[in-house]
Amino acid sequence: MSMTSSVDEGYRYRERTLKSQSFMNEASEYMPGGVTANIKYFTPHPIVMNKAKGAYVYDVDGNEYVDYLLSYGALKLGHGHEAITKAIGDQLEEQGTCLFGTPHHYEVEMAKQIKQLYPSMENIRYTNSGTEATLLALRLARAYTGKEGIAKFEGHYHGGFDEVLVSVNPSLEQAGPEQEPNSVLESKGMSERHKNTTITLPFNDLASCEEILRKKHQEIGAVIIEPLQGGFIRASQSFIEGMRQLTKEFGILFIFDEVKTGFRVALGGAQELYEVQPDLTTLGKVIGGGFPVGIVGGRKEIMNITSPSHSADVFDISQSQTSNASDVLFHSGTYNGHPTILACGLATLEVLKKETSDVCNLTSELKTELEHLFKQYSIPMLAVGEGSIFNIVITDKKNISHYRDLQASDFKLRKKMDLRLLLEGIYTKPLNRYSVSTAHTAVEVEKTIEAFRRVLNDL
Ligand SMILES: Cc1ncc(COP(=O)(O)O)c(C=O)c1O
Repeated sequence: MSMTSSVDEGYRYRERTLKSQSFMNEASEYMPGGVTANIKYFTPHPIVMNKAKGAYVYDVDGNEYVDYLLSYGALKLGHGHEAITKAIGDQLEEQGTCLFGTPHHYEVEMAKQIKQLYPSMENIRYTNSGTEATLLALRLARAYTGKEGIAKFEGHYHGGFDEVLVSVNPSLEQAGPEQEPNSVLESKGMSERHKNTTITLPFNDLASCEEILRKKHQEIGAVIIEPLQGGFIRASQSFIEGMRQLTKEFGILFIFDEVKTGFRVALGGAQELYEVQPDLTTLGKVIGGGFPVGIVGGRKEIMNITSPSHSADVFDISQSQTSNASDVLFHSGTYNGHPTILACGLATLEVLKKETSDVCNLTSELKTELEHLFKQYSIPMLAVGEGSIFNIVITDKKNISHYRDLQASDFKLRKKMDLRLLLEGIYTKPLNRYSVSTAHTAVEVEKTIEAFRRVLNDL
């Protein structure tokens, strides 16, 4: 153990981020925990950022960081890319407003691009977040199949609403048997009924999934999956193909939640990687170019249930005496298909069409170098991921294939390392995955490797 390590990283962290700490003290007077989303919170206190450029973020104490959080993967072009600032200016100048509340051409332009990259998304609808996208996808599945229940996988996240906030990060005491996990509610205030109406499946275990679905398929309308758990743990090819087959056999819609993996594991998402077509797909993050967005898409006959052209919906008061709103699947939102946001999304796509393989190559290089470095320090580590997302898993295992594998990794050491990396100017939220952007270059990779070297040296 070196001299530096005898000084607690918590103490050094507090010393380096004094202004963040006092900001958080003030923020706590106005917002619970000082944050507007629980995900932004961590101990000792979150770092408060106030400037960013390219691959870098700067905190209120003036510290610089290479950013691997990239707002949970959303900023695939990094911060302040000129294509985005130009798209905002051009859209406002050309159209004279940021919002019409009517159909407009960016909606169709984006739909065409999406269909080209994700052929399974024959028809789409826009939402304002990934959460709204999964909400709509599940409503569509219930309407299409007439079945109320859903199934999701242990350790998979699909947004913060009751139906899916089940067994995302369950304690191992509550999680139940590995082959037939319990459905554990993950928040206060949730309805207990989701313990029964949301079935939890074991990821990458086809035989157990088949057994559960065979028993319960009459009550399950949708199986929703992160095709790469957490954006980084790959489903095996045989698992994803097997699940496609089983869901078809049982009359269940298979939903790929590609909010993280879309435009990141490949431009055409996990479905391009696996060459498997889901019934419905949800997208978000990258395709908003840093602004709030979600997209739901899928087979035309499924998506069409939401068309208000064949019957009146809840907003058509004039027809309430002659038809039922419940004949249409309701979907709406003041900001859906926001012109400025879609302009930014389209600009993002243009850049990504040229630069996706560079980002993937750079990520691959970073992963390889990190694994090599950890080996030199005899710390067993896997850099797990595809495309431009990965995570650092400290483990003796040869590979990580599901939630329980991840739970067996050394989170304590990882957290300690992450706090020290923050002191060295490498930013991701402790224990979070790493995302890479087009703004990252070999220079940032080298800085990152050197920072890791210093941290590993001091452990
Ligand atoms: C796979 C997945 N689905 C849904 C969501 C929810 O998206 P949002 O935070 O935009 O509501 C997330 C967010 O991280 C996600 O990773």
